[in-house]
Amino acid sequence: MSVAPGSARTPGFNAGPIVAVVGAGVVGRSWARAFAGAGFPVRLFDPSAEAARAAVATIAAELSEDVGLGLLPAGAASEVVGRITVCGRLADAVAGVDYVQESGPEDLAVKQSILGELVAATAGDVILASSTSTLDPNLIAAGSPGAVRFLVVHPVNPPHLIPVVEILAGKATDPAIVVRACEFLRQVGQQPVVLHRFVTGFLLNRLQAALLREAIALVVDGVADAAAVDTVVRDGLGLRWAVLGPFGVAATNADGGVGDYLTRFRGPLMALMSSLSPTPELSATAIARLETSTAEMIGGMPLDRLRRSRDVFVHRVRALKRELAPMEGG
Ligand SMILES: NC(=O)c1ccc[n+]([C@@H]2O[C@H](COP(=O)([O-])OP(=O)(O)OC[C@H]3O[C@@H](n4cnc5c(N)ncnc54)[C@H](O)[C@@H]3O)[C@@H](O)[C@H]2O)c1
Repeated sequence: MSVAPGSARTPGFNAGPIVAVVGAGVVGRSWARAFAGAGFPVRLFDPSAEAARAAVATIAAELSEDVGLGLLPAGAASEVVGRITVCGRLADAVAGVDYVQESGPEDLAVKQSILGELVAATAGDVILASSTSTLDPNLIAAGSPGAVRFLVVHPVNPPHLIPVVEILAGKATDPAIVVRACEFLRQVGQQPVVLHRFVTGFLLNRLQAALLREAIALVVDGVADAAAVDTVVRDGLGLRWAVLGPFGVAATNADGGVGDYLTRFRGPLMALMSSLSPTPELSATAIARLETSTAEMIGGMPLDRLRRSRDVFVHRVRALKRELAPMEGG
């Protein structure tokens, strides 16, 4: 195992690395399931004992449901849950681990304080990863002696289901830590994407916000309702997006590839891009309109059923992609 080569913390090749998940909320519990599902022992810590208990209960319930749906083999639920140990103290959770995935509250001071505790409680080669969605790793690790082994590993919720993780090192991060983190995450089944510098929202949330901004404007301005917008994405753009991103789509939209596409459609494309909507005000009236239109689309389906249906579809689409698409790479 390469996370801590030769380390006393990973005795024997088959043992593999031990992982600590710090923070057991929405993302922490999904990370715990992802790591444990890939076969790694997980120590789970949350200052709220109730949050940690609830996280394990949720993981167990979702796994059992997945077994019931035939998405996982019988026995998988108890096996995966059996790899997760809840620890009442942070120091116990991280003692002897090789990799820490911090998933605490999105607050700079809290992240800095957790990092301080992690640095004090772990050996000098333990990878310290943060799930932060918005914070610059240079700010979180500013002045920390652990900056060299700290980096952002930003998941897409829920990470046990969606493989992409955005990787962002700070200026002080040892490049070898980035390589080791990516290697480990691939073993977990994640697909790391490395950013070269900090930008608000990283890649995924910026792209998502660009589309959401336009979608909101189209509904608020009365061009179409939420169902129409979601159908265009779900049964139009989204079908291609499971295979090709915006550049792949552009390249396949002209016989001469992306250069041909951008050259031939330069004028109309630039005119269209210039006509896109500005940031919406999101007034109470606008939000109410979006709520009503979305409720009409969902038609009373409870949100937890919508989420489960999303999870089952994503699970099956990923299985199909693994089976069919050599382009996916993950
Ligand atoms: N929710 C998402 O969709 C999403 C997606 C990607 C990344 N993230 C990031 O993941 C992190 C966690 O987000 P979340 O949505 O799971 O939040 P959450 O509020 O659901 O969970 C945060 C957990 O941290 C615990 N906590 C509080 N203080 C702590 C401390 N000092 N040490 C350790 N744990 C502490 C809380 O008890 C809570 O259980 C954030 O940094 C967020 O930006 C969230």
